[in-house]
Amino acid sequence: MSGLRLLVVGGGGREHAIVWALRRSPLAKEIYAAPGNAGIEQVAACAPIEAEDVDGLLRFACQQAVDLTVIGPEAPLALGIVDAFQAEGLRVFGPTQAAARLESSKAFAKAFMQRHNIPTARYAAFDSYDRAAAYLDKLSSPVVIKADGLAAGKGVIVCDTPQQAHAALRHVLLDGAFGAAGQTALIEERLSGSEVSLLAFCDGRTVVPMPPARDHKRIYDGDAGPNTGGMGAYAPAPDVPPQLVGEIVRAVLQPAVDGMAAEGAPYVGVLYAGMMLTADGPRALEFNCRFGDPETQAILPLLETDLLDVLLACTEGRLDQLEVRWKPRSCAAVVASSPGYPGSYPKGLVITGIEGVDRDDVFIFQAGTAHSAGQLVTAGGRVLAVSALGDTLTEALRRAYDTLGGIHFEGMHYRRDIGRSAAL
Ligand code: AMP
Ligand code: GLY
Repeated sequence: MSGLRLLVVGGGGREHAIVWALRRSPLAKEIYAAPGNAGIEQVAACAPIEAEDVDGLLRFACQQAVDLTVIGPEAPLALGIVDAFQAEGLRVFGPTQAAARLESSKAFAKAFMQRHNIPTARYAAFDSYDRAAAYLDKLSSPVVIKADGLAAGKGVIVCDTPQQAHAALRHVLLDGAFGAAGQTALIEERLSGSEVSLLAFCDGRTVVPMPPARDHKRIYDGDAGPNTGGMGAYAPAPDVPPQLVGEIVRAVLQPAVDGMAAEGAPYVGVLYAGMMLTADGPRALEFNCRFGDPETQAILPLLETDLLDVLLACTEGRLDQLEVRWKPRSCAAVVASSPGYPGSYPKGLVITGIEGVDRDDVFIFQAGTAHSAGQLVTAGGRVLAVSALGDTLTEALRRAYDTLGGIHFEGMHYRRDIGRSAAL
């Protein structure tokens, strides 16, 4: 097969990394992105269609005779974009709407984990505030309150006290803070330990794990301040050796893929297990039904095998016949964000210093960027990530930070401690 026409849906740093990796494939002829961003525009033809505009994307894919569409974010997956494309006979990488419930409904995911003996925190789900509050009053240990549906990463409230837990329940179930996503609330046992993201390619049957990655969700150094979409990541996490990866595949990812197949919703795409490494062993905190952001920016530079080969093998159910190889190196991705993010922030700040940076070992993956009057400017909260490869994590981090030192926009913020605890 040669000369494929590809479409990548989304417009963040994750999608820039996906397009960048696909661009290296000799099988890729034309690459489109929708809506893309100013960085993606340099390596793909961007169409101004929003990622949630399933009908618009379907029309575009038909018009352009796209051979494979790759879905970046969760929202179109939850809307059933894969089902819509498949109904038109189009090839698409990502789970169906039914399979994407592993992310789009936390109540579904928790009940599923229980049915399939996947280790996870104890929980109960409620749609009545009174019953939830009564249940909470009987618990003595700390809890986490979660809105059932997609809430752009904001639907999880980790509580220190029963008062906070009651307030969180009111927020979700009575105030309707998350709209339809909060019609059901989960009360979960609060676990402790370090977290790791284990992403895997899946073809409905076979699970091929990627290098374990670690995200940094808080805005400030030392994990202080509010949650963000992710301020940096590195892979592989040195405290998650291959044997532990194997254990998570056996206990979590493979049973999830087998369970979805047994329940009539075979899982094809990237399955992302958010894990907590507790004193009692690894526990699944959540599933995501897509590549992580910014994990992808730290994982894909490590992929030795052609990404397009891997994605095709997934959609054709022959992942067991492909050897997926990874570079024996480390990769670190550090995100630069707009002043004020994750609160409100200005846009249109001129970005300098990124020309000529891309070398063999350093890549800039843009997120919230745009062109204005011939200049590259900020256009979102997370503006770009600098990803760097190194023979060690320390070397990768040094390269990423050295490069960031030469990039500027007014009020640019980035964490100084990405990977620090692991690199020591
Ligand atoms: P989730 O979107 O479910 O991964 O939750 C977001 C974050 O909340 C996770 O990355 C954890 O830091 C935290 N979290 C979620 N569930 C739990 C839990 N059961 N115990 C402790 N922390 C949790
Ligand atoms: N980095 C977390 C996520 O992609 O959901």
